[in-house]
Amino acid sequence: MPDTTAQAPAVRDATDSIAERYARLLHQAVLGDDPLLVETALAEAAELGREMMRAEIPLEEVSEIHHDALVALAQAHPQLLLAKVANRITAPLMEAYMAYSLTFREQLEHRTNAILNARIDQLRRLESIGTLAAGVAHEFNNILGSIIGFSELLTDEIEADKPGSQYLKHILQASFRARDLTARLLTFARDMPEVREPVDVVSVAAETLELLRATLPVSIRLTLEASVPQAWIMADASQIQQIIMNLCINAADAIQVRDGRIRIGIEPRLHGAATEPRSDSPLEPAQPLLRLSVSDNGEGMTAETRARIFDPFFTTKAPGKGTGLGLSVIHGLVTSMGGTISLESTPGLGTRFSIDLPALSGSLQPAAREPAALDENAPAVRNKNASAALDKNASAAHDENAPRR
Ligand SMILES: Nc1ncnc2c1ncn2[C@@H]1O[C@H](COP(=O)(O)OP(=O)(O)OP(=O)(O)O)[C@@H](O)[C@H]1O
Ligand SMILES: [Mg+2]
Repeated sequence: MPDTTAQAPAVRDATDSIAERYARLLHQAVLGDDPLLVETALAEAAELGREMMRAEIPLEEVSEIHHDALVALAQAHPQLLLAKVANRITAPLMEAYMAYSLTFREQLEHRTNAILNARIDQLRRLESIGTLAAGVAHEFNNILGSIIGFSELLTDEIEADKPGSQYLKHILQASFRARDLTARLLTFARDMPEVREPVDVVSVAAETLELLRATLPVSIRLTLEASVPQAWIMADASQIQQIIMNLCINAADAIQVRDGRIRIGIEPRLHGAATEPRSDSPLEPAQPLLRLSVSDNGEGMTAETRARIFDPFFTTKAPGKGTGLGLSVIHGLVTSMGGTISLESTPGLGTRFSIDLPALSGSLQPAAREPAALDENAPAVRNKNASAALDKNASAAHDENAPRR
């Protein structure tokens, strides 16, 4: 008998009873005179093969059961001539093997189908959530349009030093936030028209930085480091802005420390570099790449969180604080642009998201002179018109906390 001591009792019992039945049927198949009995024994061997698969008895044990049954048969009939019964000895084992592997394939197909169906169900559910969200967002956008429009008209009516003007400012701020949220929902539902054209990521990042500065806490130092003066890609500028905004807002949310730092980096990336995109990357090997990164010194993420962050509606934020759509939208946008997104994160130390996007050929020329050293406390390059500033400075470092020029 095979050594089944390491198995669970139920499996051991099943193996024992199967081994006994197999020993009996082998006896019958080898020594039986009546062809019908031999056939019945072979049919039972096939049935045992199926049972062994269903009982999850490993394939090696099928041959062990056969071997033990054979030894028992030889001991019981020492006069048995091997040459005479050779064919009959292997037939039951073949039957058991064949039935075992067929059942295995059936089970595999069954499981694959179950997984596929579950995926399709999930996609359908997501699609209907998307359609619903898009419908609500459209309606809501119209309502917001009136709120924002009339509030802006009122700002002309109410003088800035009157208390009402403060309330109005809050109404407008809240409405803009709501508009941002509906835009994200619409993007999630892929219901926003996109305009792809050559876009300079350095300018877009610099402009986005200005917007972010107005919203993020002043205790957070926000910098942009571009190792190239311009970085052109084919994209919808508003999507690039949305990606940077979402990553920076996430970073700010993760920052608990007093001297929080968020750094936006832009640099050319060559294939074969240390942090090469994964092998399933859709990027062509010879394609020039642009790396856009956002790093923070926030709380970082555990491995469990990291594994789920791109799932739609996954959030660790309190109810009402996060929709969990930010990163799933970013993932969708980056993929649709033919790029890849990866991240490194250490709990307690911080996180860096890196996005590699296909750049337009010849658009990632290094700066004519060395990149400006970034001194967080020194007055840095800053200009309302970011592209103009960057044109003037071959390679730019922006420090949003530095005094304006
Ligand atoms: N820079 C980061 N540092 C630490 N955790 C992060 C960072 N970025 C994202 N996360 C984690 O990933 C989760 C999902 O992020 P995502 O942007 O998709 O949704 P959210 O920020 O929770 O909600 P929303 O973006 O809709 O406000 C976050 O709840 C947070 O746990
Ligand atoms: Mg977010």
